[in-house]
Amino acid sequence: MNSKRYSFNDVNAEIRLHLNESPLPPPKHVVEYVTEVIQYGNLYVNSKLFAEFRELLAGYVGVDVAEVFPYAGGDAALRAIFYTIVEVGDEVLLLNPTYSMFDIFTSNRGLKKVEVNLRECGDWWCLDYTDLILMAEDADLVVIDDPNNPTGSPVLRGDPKLISELAGVVKGFILIDETYFEFSGYTAVPLIRDYPNIIVVRSLSKAFSLAGFRLGYVVGSPEVIDVLSSTYTPFDIPLPSLAAGVAALKNSTYVSTAVDTIKRNRDLMLQGLRKLGVRSYNSLTNFILVRDSRDLRDLLLKHGIAIKAIDNGLYRVSVGSEEQCGKLLKILGDGV
Ligand SMILES: Cc1ncc(COP(=O)(O)O)c(C=O)c1O
Repeated sequence: MNSKRYSFNDVNAEIRLHLNESPLPPPKHVVEYVTEVIQYGNLYVNSKLFAEFRELLAGYVGVDVAEVFPYAGGDAALRAIFYTIVEVGDEVLLLNPTYSMFDIFTSNRGLKKVEVNLRECGDWWCLDYTDLILMAEDADLVVIDDPNNPTGSPVLRGDPKLISELAGVVKGFILIDETYFEFSGYTAVPLIRDYPNIIVVRSLSKAFSLAGFRLGYVVGSPEVIDVLSSTYTPFDIPLPSLAAGVAALKNSTYVSTAVDTIKRNRDLMLQGLRKLGVRSYNSLTNFILVRDSRDLRDLLLKHGIAIKAIDNGLYRVSVGSEEQCGKLLKILGDGV
């Protein structure tokens, strides 16, 4: 069987700007709580900790506990959706370009893929909403990463009119992936009550600086959550990760500080790139998409900086610390 897979050759680079990771370490109170609980690693996770994480998530998102469910990473949440609410042969509508795992799940699950193209419009990427609405009519699942990876552009922008229209016409479900929610500041969550076919996925990997802990969650109607959670146990998320999630949500003020820092670095990097004549798109995320005729990946890797090559001269660069962004700009400025 020819199955598609995530192509991942991690690089040994001093500066990692290829996976949209946070340049900031998890805060001290998170590390301390994780350290405190690991002595109980001989036991299955205390289900109270799972329940506490779920309750804290509900508070953070502003929904009922029955409307949210935690997973071991946003990817696990996405996988659960692709493997639970659609059947082999169903039609999935994806954006192009989009987050690579959507294509992999679609292919490996035996789903039929249709795509709506994003196109450059000025310094953003946009799509034709009429096409999206028309194509959604036959789709069992419409998948929108919003803001979009790799462009960094908004798609539905949490616009109630647009989302209602889409939810009203789609044959099946709309999955809105809000992995970069804390950077964009908009959400489709308030619409899940009126439209039970809307499912939102989020992650603690980016703004919460917890990628290695693998924490994500789904927000949806209690009926959808009930189906999605049917094959899970309170033991699916490892103890250190649950502890990290609980500590992070109990005291999450560090998140807005981290987001502000990354946004500031992003804007400095964007200005710097443009000054150097590198075509760079606006972004509502923690990364920037750029276009260049040089092999930027190779050029930067020689200097210990990893970025992601997309295709057709497009590169995705995560926003690092101010120092890392400065180093990247210096190398590009020198051009050797
Ligand atoms: C759009 C999108 N969805 C999901 C994920 C996966 O996030 P997680 O680390 O929570 O699995 C990513 C990671 O880069 C992403 O860009």
